[in-house]
Amino acid sequence: MTLAMADAHVDVSGSLKGKPGPILLLGAPGAGKGTQAKDLAAKWGIPQISTGDLLRYNRDHGTPLGSKAKQIMDEGKLVPDDLVNEMVAERLKQPDTASGYILDGYPRTLGQAKWLDEHVGADAGALPVIAVSIQVGYNELLRRITGRRICPVCGTIYNIYLQPPKVDEKCDLDGTPLVRRSDDTEEVFRERMRTYDSQTAPVVEHYRAQGRFEAVDGSKPVNAVAAEVEAAVARLRGSGTDKTEKQQS
Ligand code: AP5
Repeated sequence: MTLAMADAHVDVSGSLKGKPGPILLLGAPGAGKGTQAKDLAAKWGIPQISTGDLLRYNRDHGTPLGSKAKQIMDEGKLVPDDLVNEMVAERLKQPDTASGYILDGYPRTLGQAKWLDEHVGADAGALPVIAVSIQVGYNELLRRITGRRICPVCGTIYNIYLQPPKVDEKCDLDGTPLVRRSDDTEEVFRERMRTYDSQTAPVVEHYRAQGRFEAVDGSKPVNAVAAEVEAAVARLRGSGTDKTEKQQS
């Protein structure tokens, strides 16, 4: 049985109504996945699950997983699928995922995508996984990555070129000195892009082939991108029923 139309539909304004279900935000390093995921998760009352944030938490707290991941992340390569899948499995057991969640930066390999296909079942209201990719050109990505600053306390994301804080290098919300991620250098960015092109780009085709994928133009201002992502999610939820029924028939 398909639950998609029972639980989510599009209203006349193009906004999502009903449960969001499981949503994947895909895109190259610096495309704006974290920026969009935080805002939309807050708006929809569902968690943002960022595998990058979870790995950095483990690294900074010296857990066995963090120790294994540290060097790999510093080199701009991917942490092995089995470690990341296990971490995601643990997070998806939390009750706050019942109505849906935004996975930010996962899946990043075909292996992870196939694992997710097999493990997303009755959770999140049994809605199917949908994927939205935020697309931005190389030079803009480089500017976003090298200009990014983050508040280590509240996680607010800034950019010294594009979205600067009101006071230089201080968080607008709590005044904490901003920090730069260790992998946000030009050299590591180039390696992250190579990794993205070779291992993550095929994930897009995986979801496109299932009819559960849309791409949005991420080069616009943050609010405009948010509106495009939201409209894409609403369309994918609204049209998900037909496609699911066709696949099941
Ligand atoms: P992760 O933390 O996921 O990094 P990433 O995918 O490279 O993405 P970023 O966090 O760099 O960018 P973003 O798209 O979130 O952009 P943001 O919103 O911050 O992963 C880090 C590492 O962990 C990986 O390299 C890997 O080693 C490991 N890892 C993580 N997940 C894994 C997985 N599934 N499997 C294996 N390994 C994994 O925005 C960037 C900047 O742009 C900010 O400064 C922001 O203010 C600005 N900005 C955003 N949107 C706009 C806009 N519309 N206009 C102007 N400026 C904007």
